[in-house]
Amino acid sequence: MCGIYGYIKASSEKKALETCLDGLQKLQYRGYDSAGVAAIHNGSILSFKTVGKVDLLTSLVKESPKELSAAIAHTRWATHGRVSSANTHPQIDYKESLALVHNGIIENYLEVKKRLESKGVTFSSETDTEVCANLISYYYDGDMLSALTRAFADINGSFAIVLMHKDFPETIYASARGCPLAIGICEISGDVYISSDSSSFSESSYSTYFLQDNEIAKVDGKTLTIYDDQAKEKKISLSPLTITENETLKDGYEHFMLKEIHEQKGLIERILHKRKKQNSFYYRELEDDKDLLNQVQHIEIIACGSSYHAGLIAKEFLEQETRIPVSVHLGSQYRYAKHLDKANTLAIIISQSGETADTLAALESRKEHFLLTIALCNVENSTLTRKADRFIPLMAKKEVSVCSTKAFTAQLLNLYLLGIHLANALGASCEKFTKELLSLPLCIESVYSKEKEIASFAKEYSSFPYFFFVGRGQMYPVCLEAALKLKEISYLPAEALPAGEMKHGPIALIDEKLATIAFLTKGEIAAKTISNLSEIRARNGRILTFGGNNHEVTKDQITFETDSLETFLTIPYSIAGQIFSYYLAKELDREIDFPRNLAKSVTVE
Ligand code: F6R
Repeated sequence: MCGIYGYIKASSEKKALETCLDGLQKLQYRGYDSAGVAAIHNGSILSFKTVGKVDLLTSLVKESPKELSAAIAHTRWATHGRVSSANTHPQIDYKESLALVHNGIIENYLEVKKRLESKGVTFSSETDTEVCANLISYYYDGDMLSALTRAFADINGSFAIVLMHKDFPETIYASARGCPLAIGICEISGDVYISSDSSSFSESSYSTYFLQDNEIAKVDGKTLTIYDDQAKEKKISLSPLTITENETLKDGYEHFMLKEIHEQKGLIERILHKRKKQNSFYYRELEDDKDLLNQVQHIEIIACGSSYHAGLIAKEFLEQETRIPVSVHLGSQYRYAKHLDKANTLAIIISQSGETADTLAALESRKEHFLLTIALCNVENSTLTRKADRFIPLMAKKEVSVCSTKAFTAQLLNLYLLGIHLANALGASCEKFTKELLSLPLCIESVYSKEKEIASFAKEYSSFPYFFFVGRGQMYPVCLEAALKLKEISYLPAEALPAGEMKHGPIALIDEKLATIAFLTKGEIAAKTISNLSEIRARNGRILTFGGNNHEVTKDQITFETDSLETFLTIPYSIAGQIFSYYLAKELDREIDFPRNLAKSVTVE
């Protein structure tokens, strides 16, 4: 993970270190264990580092020299080495001649480290990044390009690297392999920005280049030169990019997560409105694919975390409406699995960030086997949207809280609507769903109206050390998502179970210390779940139910006005789960928007 930033001033009034700090603020979603910034001043390296968030760096940097025009910076999510000042980037080499920031993992770093140590090179951190800095420094004899190509040939793994050397105080070198790195030249000032994510450039228009694997970029003043892995200059073309900054504010909410939970009704209205066509739903992005869609024989959904759960929930609907078998895969598993070569497979890749390494690698590993790849993604210009054949925007707008809420809901709703588009393209009618879908916003309103009640139960349940989330049918993957939310932000263990599976083992865990949260639907399936809940009750487990009217298994019940829903109950119930987790974590005084050990964009395997 980690966020990398670099900046070289051409004609603006900006200060290099401060500009980098502004950039880092926007990259903190990639990790917030520690942060640092470096530049070359009076022929030596000047660096500032801090454990914790970027805000803490700002006061250190205030005292810095003002005339600096180039700098590099980093916000870290620890992979190799503890969260400590020594392990914070920029890492400085043993000769104190270069500063380097890195995103990714150098897989053979121990082997390279040993080799360098045997030559007398010394190390002062536990990071794979320092190995890289020392290796480049070891090879450097006045020719940086040669040192870089030799060093990169020695290392395995993935990386985006940006560095400055004291011999060239106004030059930045960068390279990438399997990690994103964008370089933008501001069309007005000529200032150059380098970042893990182009959306973190300042507000302006840019000529932009996204580094390809193994390329090396040299940014010298406002001149950008790209070399291949043999240091041979390459011709490249730049693409235009306009950044309009919409500052994301909490708008009076205590946390972004709560704000984002409350944005879901509007988001659902927006998506339904955008995709509605006559009495059904339609994706203009797939307008030219009718023939291809008619050939589809299999659908594979690939994603991680909450995005994977959205796929699991939508699977049955997609299969039922398209009559095409659907399999849902975790990106991290898919890449290394053995696959049957299935003809005419449509791949749907789901990712909020579009930068999840496991998801991207899974797509890359099988791309040539797919008939068509569709990215469902929230970030335009992400690596995923560039790699997939088609891009369907989630329209969730920026999601700040690390814990996904509105992006998950946008994924799920888009998957349902995409199912309708595919079914229509195959000649089936899905008009029967239109009324139900259009009633969603009102049902979400009904969930919001129970916020206080949910919050009060969350407070009561916050003293439990362990949670089960149980449901049947479509409610089981909803439980997977609800349990993940609780784990992420409350740090409490939570397990999702299909209600019918309790008796096959997990019921052994039930006692008065275990809390069960159940999602009840309607009819026979609800009755079956209630029977399972009675078994928990009989063993003194406390139970809270969402939905499902008129049952006597527990007094702790929250119901919603969702009579118009059947197939899409998954959406309001997921939102109710988010609210429950939010208030429980709040009661435990957790750092809700930036939970420990996590990052919003998971760019390592
Ligand atoms: C959970 C959460 C994560 C992400 C996962 C995939 O709240 O946010 O589980 O869903 O890391 O991330 P994306 O969707 O960006 O690929």
